[in-house]
This record gives sequence, structure tokens and C-alpha cells, in this order.
Amino acid sequence: MLRKKTVVITGASSGLGASLAVTFAEMGANLVLFSRNQERLKEVESLCQGPGDRPVIVTGNIAQPEDCERLIALAISQFGTLDYLITNAGISMWAKFENICDLSIFSKIMETNYLGTVHCVYYALPHLRKSQGMIVAISSIQGKIGVPFHTGYTASKHAIQGFFASLRAELTENDIDILIVTPHWLRGTSLRENAFGKDGNSIGVSLREHSQESISLQECNQAILNAIGKRQKELVVPPKLKILPWLNLINPKIVDFIVKWKMFKQDNE
Ligand SMILES: NC(=O)c1ccc[n+]([C@@H]2O[C@H](COP(=O)([O-])OP(=O)(O)OC[C@H]3O[C@@H](n4cnc5c(N)ncnc54)[C@H](OP(=O)(O)O)[C@@H]3O)[C@@H](O)[C@H]2O)c1
Repeated sequence: MLRKKTVVITGASSGLGASLAVTFAEMGANLVLFSRNQERLKEVESLCQGPGDRPVIVTGNIAQPEDCERLIALAISQFGTLDYLITNAGISMWAKFENICDLSIFSKIMETNYLGTVHCVYYALPHLRKSQGMIVAISSIQGKIGVPFHTGYTASKHAIQGFFASLRAELTENDIDILIVTPHWLRGTSLRENAFGKDGNSIGVSLREHSQESISLQECNQAILNAIGKRQKELVVPPKLKILPWLNLINPKIVDFIVKWKMFKQDNE
């Protein structure tokens, strides 16, 4: 399925992006790995073993349209086509809205999670159309419901959902497939320690433990691979979480209660 296919992964220096890179390399994909940190990208590149060409590393800031244009141009100049764009780069927060003293958190999260996705899709679209390719957008269950301490992050993931729902409506059949991935908490990533705290600085090593319902990177990877193979439009990991957006429509008070209960017991702000 991925053998000799060109796959661009944003946010490939750590967490889910790095894990997807290693898995896709094993399957023979030609990889283009993007993030701001060249050293970490090189480490990921060294872990990518497979029958495909050596991964291409591109450093840049996804919030800058010109960096995203360069990313896609380098993928095309190196491999000639673009088959899959994985929009995965992201940053989070953990702070009660009224305690936030640095409002730039909101623009930074929006520029990375939402506008960064828009920039990459914009430059990739003509090439994906030629290859009848696929966009894999890493959203979050927070793109479907509200979650305390995550106002800016949740808003950015809702924006991603709205963007792709509208883009899909513009595309014709047999054009480009869009898979929106909606994971629960993932274990083994740097999202929590890099998340903005109320003062706008990264919160660093977190004392908050992942709940038992959090999922491993391997589990998420496998689910994404299966969904790509089936050209699915939506993927919720774990599947039981599909109930939440429905329940939110029917009885938002219950969802509110569950989410608050889970989140407030973790908060130590
Ligand atoms: N962890 C979870 O519980 C969870 C749950 C649901 C969804 N997600 C989503 O999964 C995706 C991956 O997150 P993760 O958990 O794997 O976190 P992570 O380990 O912190 O990885 C985030 C990646 O994004 C890159 N990145 C951040 N800002 C960037 C920028 N301005 N320009 C370019 N790259 C940038 C980082 O690389 P550099 O720092 O090197 O730039 C890193 O490679 C995110 O979209 C996140 O929202 C995560």
C-alpha cells in the first residue's frame, strides 16, 4: 500500500509523527519528515529502516506559509510525486482560561495547529490531485467536544474539523481522500510537557498521569494504517469514543459531567 509512495509527515521529530515515520518506513514509503528541530529529525531518520529511499529531512516552522511551500516543493523535487500528506504537527496547553496571563498562547496554538495545517494542504493540493492522494489530518477528540484547561487547543482542533468538512464539500469524487483522525490521549509523546502553561511557558515534565483509557502509539499507528488502507473518512481511536459526540448532541450535561470529572481530578495548577 505505501511501498514507493511519497509521504510527507509534519511534526515528525517526536511522538505520533515519529512513530508513524518508523512504521511507514518499514512499509517501504519514501518519507519527507518535517519539524523545527533538525537534531531530533535526524534521530528519527536513523530509526527509519525499510526498503524505501532514505528519508528527506526538512526543518521549518509550520506557522510560516513559506516553510510549508518549501516542504512540499522539496518532496516533489526529491520524489516527483506526493501521495500522502500527514498533518500532525501540534502544540497544546493546560491552563484555566481565567488564570491565563499570556494571551499569545491562543494565537500560537492557532497558528501551529490550524493555520499550519491549512498552509501544508494549500501547497500540497495540486500534487495530491495528480496522484489521487490522501490527506491524513491528526485532530483530537477535543475537536468534537469541549475540554477544561484546553480552550485554545480545543478551538484549534474544532477549526481543523470545520476546515476539512468544507474542503471535502469542494472536492469532487475520485479526487483526494481526507481521513480525519480523532485520538483520545496518547501515551509516549511530548505534547504534555511542551504544552503552554498559564504564563505562556512550556509546563515541562508533567505530574499528571495518563488515564487507563489513554492509548499507545502502536495502537494508534495500526488504526491509522488500517484506515488509510480502507480510504476511510473518519477514524476515532479507541472506537468506543465515537459515542461522545453523539451523546453530546443528545445530552450535553452527561458529557460535561464525565469530561469535568476526568479533567479536574488531574488538575494540579
Ligand atoms: N498526545 C496526545 O494525547 C494527543 C491526543 C490527540 C491528538 N494528538 C495530536 O497528535 C499530534 C501529534 O502530537 P504528539 O502527541 O505526538 O506530540 P509531540 O510529541 O509534542 O509532537 C508534536 C510534533 O509537532 C512538531 N511541531 C510543533 N510545533 C511545530 C511548528 N511550529 N512547526 C513544525 N513542527 C512543529 C514538534 O516538532 P518540533 O518541536 O521539532 O518542531 C513535534 O514533532 C498533534 O496534532 C496532537 O494535537 C495528541
